[in-house]
Amino acid sequence: MPSAASPGGNPRAAATADEWIGLRGHVLDAPESGRLRSWREGAVLFDPATGRITETGEYALLRRRPRTAKVRWLGGPEWLVMPGLIDVHAHVPQYPAVARGEGELLPWLRQAIFPLERDFSKPRALVQAPRFFHELARHGTTSAMLYSAIYEESTDAAFEAAAARGLRIALGKVMMDVGSYGPLQPRKILTVSLHESEALCRRWHGANGGLLRYAFAPRFAVSCSERLMRGAADLARQYDAPIQTHLAESAGEIEKVRFQFPWAKDYTDVYDRCGLLGPRTVLGHCIHLSEREVGTLAAANAKVAHCPTSNLYLGSGIMPLDRWLAAGLTVGLGSDVAAGPELNMWAVMRSAVESARARTFFVPDARPLRPAEAFHLATQGGARALGLDGVVGTLDPGREADLVALDLHALLPYGTGAAAGPRPGELSPQDLVALCVYRGGPAATALTFVRGRCVYRAGEPTPMADVPVEPGGSGI
Ligand code: GUN
Ligand code: FE
Repeated sequence: MPSAASPGGNPRAAATADEWIGLRGHVLDAPESGRLRSWREGAVLFDPATGRITETGEYALLRRRPRTAKVRWLGGPEWLVMPGLIDVHAHVPQYPAVARGEGELLPWLRQAIFPLERDFSKPRALVQAPRFFHELARHGTTSAMLYSAIYEESTDAAFEAAAARGLRIALGKVMMDVGSYGPLQPRKILTVSLHESEALCRRWHGANGGLLRYAFAPRFAVSCSERLMRGAADLARQYDAPIQTHLAESAGEIEKVRFQFPWAKDYTDVYDRCGLLGPRTVLGHCIHLSEREVGTLAAANAKVAHCPTSNLYLGSGIMPLDRWLAAGLTVGLGSDVAAGPELNMWAVMRSAVESARARTFFVPDARPLRPAEAFHLATQGGARALGLDGVVGTLDPGREADLVALDLHALLPYGTGAAAGPRPGELSPQDLVALCVYRGGPAATALTFVRGRCVYRAGEPTPMADVPVEPGGSGI
């Protein structure tokens, strides 16, 4: 069996001063919804010194093109080369609780999530966060917008782990001053929450050469006072930093918001009046919205994180993706781990396709979503949602080289050997993307690059931190 990362040598071997890397394979991206661009025997070249893509096109042409830089070629006909995947919504401390707990959002948070997040201390983060970012890279995810728990120290540890892995990460500590983690909560009053968030923002926003950003994270209106939300909005404005929160995920949540904020027209209006809506705001879920709310989000150019695996796991509902896109909203895809059971963005794409399909069963004019459109949402759509449009998301020369190479051998039922079925060259770009959407996952990831640096190669072991988890254990 071919070994995934072997063709062409070791991507981590030090590059000489003007040595570029060329990833060969079936090259694919989706610069616009519904339009796949592909080079069947293609290649993507990048310069590790600048971290940028230099050339994309036919391998036969690029191989012969004169240039001063030497090229180290990796890959071959069994590889797919694509933009790195973008996860616009997940929770770092929650990963150990995937597929745990039952019930809808609010009881699930209380029973399965808050006890775990409450214990996301620094020692715990030192063990878990390096593994979390290794997991992201192993799944081919190069960029993500993430929540930590309410603590400053463990959020620092998570940022350090993101920097060590070299991923492109927006992260923020959860802000809550109403209810918080329940009766045993550590006290995190309004001023402490704002002060700690600002301190983290000062340390991390723009760190690691701009790969890291601070994302202010008022959890959702249910757990925030109006003053906390206004304070978070002010800080985000002051530091040009993104904001992330949850909106209109479940019926129970919406009912609570109506009760807590009687002055608001609706849930979206709470965030609007607190100054939280703008082009750098990413709102998780957005399932149950009125026309008025969608209009408000579109006018603010706020971004939507569509989290279909989570929405089905918690029974929150099916987001009318086709309507939100038609209304002009920018949408990216989120795993929403741990309400979504996997960090696997291919599984999230599949769930987006299947959710849209399910809607057509009971909404007469609903539009299905094709795998290629889901792939667009997880790459260029995610880049737009995170304000990285023009930076990553496609394979255009000049973009930063955030890339994933997949091994077709691991995707096809009988591999790529003789008489095993279609040869790689016989599959259309649409078929290849559908194969990834329906069968893709970490087993197929050969290499992952961020800004031209290899952040994962197949078979790499999980990082083992030598710091023990403190005695007393998790509340779960
Ligand atoms: N709403 C507020 N907090 C959360 C969370 O942690 N997960 C999900 N899915 N929804 C939320
Ligand atoms: Fe979430």
